[in-house]
Amino acid sequence: MNLGWWRLFGAAFAGFLFFHGFSASEKAPNFSFMHNATSAPTLSYYDYIIVGGGTAGCPLAATLSQNATVLLLERGGSPYGNPIITNMANFGAAISDLSPSSPSQRFISEDGVINARPLVLGGGSCLNAGFYTRAAIEYVRQAGWDGRLVNESYQWVEKLVAFEPPLGQWQSAVRDGLIEAGVVPFNGFTYDHIYGTKVGGTIFDQQGNRHTAADLLENANPSGLTVLLYASVHKILFAIKGKRRPKAHGVIFRDTSGAKHSAYLNDGSKNEIIVSAGALGSPQLLMLSGVGPAVHLKAHNITVVLDQPLVGQGMSDNPMNAVFVPSPLPVEVSLIQVVGITHFGSYIEAASGENFAGGGGSSSPRDYGMFSPKIGQLSTVPPKQRTPEAIAKAVEYMKNLEQAAFRGGFILEKIMGPISIGHLELRTRNPNDNPSVTFNYFKDPRDLKRCVQGIQTIEKIIESKSFSKFRYDYLSWPVLLNMTANAPLNLLPKHYNPSMPLEEFCKDTVMTIWHYHGGCQVGKVVDLDYKVLGVDALRVIDGSTFNYSPGTNPQATVMMLGRYMGVKILGERLAN
Ligand SMILES: Cc1cc2nc3c(=O)[nH]c(=O)nc-3n(C[C@H](O)[C@H](O)[C@H](O)COP(=O)(O)OP(=O)(O)OC[C@H]3O[C@@H](n4cnc5c(N)ncnc54)[C@H](O)[C@@H]3O)c2cc1C
Ligand SMILES: *[C@@H]1O[C@H](CO)[C@@H](O)[C@H](O)[C@H]1NC(C)=O
Ligand SMILES: *[C@@H]1O[C@H](CO)[C@@H](O)[C@H](O)[C@H]1NC(C)=O
Ligand SMILES: *[C@@H]1O[C@H](CO)[C@@H](O)[C@H](O)[C@H]1NC(C)=O
Ligand SMILES: *[C@@H]1O[C@H](CO)[C@@H](O)[C@H](O)[C@H]1NC(C)=O
Ligand SMILES: *[C@@H]1O[C@H](CO)[C@@H](O)[C@H](O)[C@H]1NC(C)=O
Ligand SMILES: *[C@@H]1O[C@H](CO)[C@@H](O)[C@H](O)[C@H]1NC(C)=O
Repeated sequence: MNLGWWRLFGAAFAGFLFFHGFSASEKAPNFSFMHNATSAPTLSYYDYIIVGGGTAGCPLAATLSQNATVLLLERGGSPYGNPIITNMANFGAAISDLSPSSPSQRFISEDGVINARPLVLGGGSCLNAGFYTRAAIEYVRQAGWDGRLVNESYQWVEKLVAFEPPLGQWQSAVRDGLIEAGVVPFNGFTYDHIYGTKVGGTIFDQQGNRHTAADLLENANPSGLTVLLYASVHKILFAIKGKRRPKAHGVIFRDTSGAKHSAYLNDGSKNEIIVSAGALGSPQLLMLSGVGPAVHLKAHNITVVLDQPLVGQGMSDNPMNAVFVPSPLPVEVSLIQVVGITHFGSYIEAASGENFAGGGGSSSPRDYGMFSPKIGQLSTVPPKQRTPEAIAKAVEYMKNLEQAAFRGGFILEKIMGPISIGHLELRTRNPNDNPSVTFNYFKDPRDLKRCVQGIQTIEKIIESKSFSKFRYDYLSWPVLLNMTANAPLNLLPKHYNPSMPLEEFCKDTVMTIWHYHGGCQVGKVVDLDYKVLGVDALRVIDGSTFNYSPGTNPQATVMMLGRYMGVKILGERLAN
């Protein structure tokens, strides 16, 4: 094959997006409580106002609406009836969609890694790879959570949105390769976080249809809940009386026409504003509302309500490194199904795909994946030269690649934690603009060591007997590494060659698995009950509160936390 390896690589990742085997989306629920923000009154009152209808915000709103009036404000639209969200085969289309109606918003961290943040009701659960797996019991203990309520809350989520995946040949070979590599015991299919190899859950059902956190709104009390779509919150309002602590009492949001609306809390000491805007959105909105590092806020001409230097600190993104393995045999389309949980702090996962391009119409909404020309492929080209024409040309080129170039899968490792931390800062005062984020991947040498051990485990899987039928013998391990290292996966300068230590491979090929978290961490910005320190009637409940990413993949625990805190808050409300 006279193709550049990087094209082969990118094409292979893109390949599984062309699969046309699944049925169209299922019937959308008719949520009578869901409206376009343009139809909202300019002034309204509720017991709870939740900012962000994402992975945590939806289960939280559904729960609180049982015994109180709730307003849920989401800046994006509905996920229902949108095939780039609903259909598993379209993973990647959503995160590479840069149109104004996209359910995702791209951001590039200061580290030079291309990333994505949700912009849709259901949040990250509408864009993600679907893998569903609980946090370790030890994680739950360390978080100070009530283990019984945690389990009940996971079950509440799982009843609606978690499924056992149908395991194909390729994923089965990865499973057996992990066992051969010594990641044992094999624990079968389970949601639990246990050392060894397991098959985890997925939010895609057996037909390949995605279920999301928005589905958890089926549990809402329709007379207690109002959901506004395309409602972008610009500010949390505080009542400041004398020397008393500032008290959150309302929000200002704008609809698509730019019109301003305010919503306030009803009178009552139990009523609260809850921010669930995600790891970028929550610290950003606190800062825009005057809660953050005073010097930084003043530089943006924001009136300081509370000098809180830790808002935006402790941002982390678990680095992901992957090795692409072209396959001589056809492989199934799979997102993450199997995971190896090692003792050295690295999680091994895998995804596979097959090219069916040419069979389907090229004008379909299906698009290229994580490493497409629209995301990564042209990333070595300076941004100004990444014109729509250049992208279109690359897309066209890839369409014409031979079928075999698209066949294969990638085995990836994500490190736990991570230990390295970074920070977030405002760029502008517009909540729709991305803040600037630095994750400092591999700054701590322990993170780098975990990556190296993870890559060594991936080598063992690829060299295992079980996996041998899905690789070409002549593509040796150094060639596979070299091929991955030459793919433009990020914006970092390349220096890796196969004679270098694996540390260099890790640093050169770092990507995101989109499990970024922090910015409003427990013990720093919020207390153990997720109440913002130093102000009243304000909590943050979402992935921004994590010190470490829970489980192998976080979404199960994010949804659980929304339900869990909803039950706790209602318990406090109804007490006495
Ligand atoms: C591509 C991708 C793949 C992933 N794969 C997996 C996986 O396989 N398994 C897994 O467990 N996890 C996965 N994750 C991670 C997981 O989905 C996230 O960690 C999780 O969804 C975060 O939830 P959250 O509630 O903290 O934030 P989000 O779900 O991002 O929710 C925040 C919401 O707030 C809204 N918002 C933000 N600012 C405002 C504002 N000012 N006004 C109004 N609304 C606002 C946003 O639009 C968004 O809907 C993946 C994530 C991505 C993006
Ligand atoms: C959805 O529900 C509302 C209110 O219950 C009803 O007026 C409307 O006709 C329903 N729409 C559909 C498509 O079923
Ligand atoms: C919301 O409603 C307004 C006014 O009816 C309309 O102009 C706008 O397109 C709607 N927004 C979306 C995204 O549906
Ligand atoms: C809370 O709501 C539930 C369901 O709507 C109801 O059964 C229960 O009686 C309510 N509790 C109180 C104290 O109002
Ligand atoms: C929660 O469930 C797990 C299994 O998923 C179990 O091991 C654990 O003991 C349970 N915890 C409590 C407190 O019931
Ligand atoms: C802040 O306000 C000052 C004075 O009005 C102005 O000169 C400056 O440009 C403003 N800075 C920002 C970041 O808006
Ligand atoms: C690594 O890949 C590059 C680009 O495809 C190629 O030029 C180089 O010769 C390869 N090196 C080795 C040692 O395979």
